[in-house]
Amino acid sequence: MGYKQQIIPDRIPRHIAIIMDGNGRWAKRQGLARMFGHRQGVETVHRITEAAAEIGIQYLTLYAFSTENWNRPKEEVDALMVLLVDTIAKETPTLMRNNIRLQTIGDLSRLPQATRSKFLECIQQTSNNTGLTLVIALSYSARWEIIQAAKNIAAKVQKHQLLIEDINEELLANHMTTAQMPDPDLLIRTSGELRISNFLLWQLAYSELYFTSCLWPEFTNEEFYHAIVDYQNRERRFGKTSEQI
Ligand code: IPE
Ligand code: IPE
Ligand code: MG
Repeated sequence: MGYKQQIIPDRIPRHIAIIMDGNGRWAKRQGLARMFGHRQGVETVHRITEAAAEIGIQYLTLYAFSTENWNRPKEEVDALMVLLVDTIAKETPTLMRNNIRLQTIGDLSRLPQATRSKFLECIQQTSNNTGLTLVIALSYSARWEIIQAAKNIAAKVQKHQLLIEDINEELLANHMTTAQMPDPDLLIRTSGELRISNFLLWQLAYSELYFTSCLWPEFTNEEFYHAIVDYQNRERRFGKTSEQI
């Protein structure tokens, strides 16, 4: 029996976050330039997004470009920015067809004008869709996000709009870029790296983690369903004892 048939429909994770890693290594393995890996990675994004929408996931957050990725060679960064524009242009009909709403998290002010406006256009166009919310983390890092939240809260305290006593988990969560979203239930990272790489540090506090050595361009739907089945077989205790669950 395939993994898809093993998924328990009433225990679908509401929010899955993915660190899509291994594009460069996939390309290198076949003697190709890194950009071939990124292009192939876009195909995986298309497939996995449709699969997530089909099985009723509410939020899918994809780590596409980190704050630290700005430090890559300029040619790769420039080519990635162009690839992002082309992908959004090409995939907007796919989003509309599947009733998917696009959102982004990250410091969009650092993006080239063309990339930023293409994203804003697509966000606007898909804003009334009611199925899956696809969140692209772009120029995102968790420490950047936490610094923004701290600054915004401090400014409100300074202007006497908030008291220090008002600062609690809920308030902090509401100042993150993910304010309207549930925390990820499941985090998937491809390519065999066992690290978080500055992704959603606050929100992943109680997420289940799933690591696979599979490189992102070859991440199959079957592997995606496997991750969900694996998640459904775990006991989330949130600090309690097994008997209390
Ligand atoms: C992930 O693939 C995509 C981005 C970070 C943009 P990589 O480009 O990190 O691929 P590897 O890790 O070098 O194989
Ligand atoms: C994490 O991958 C960021 C994205 C997938 C966009 P990296 O390839 O940048 O992470 P490190 O450098 O291996 O930690
Ligand atoms: Mg990488």
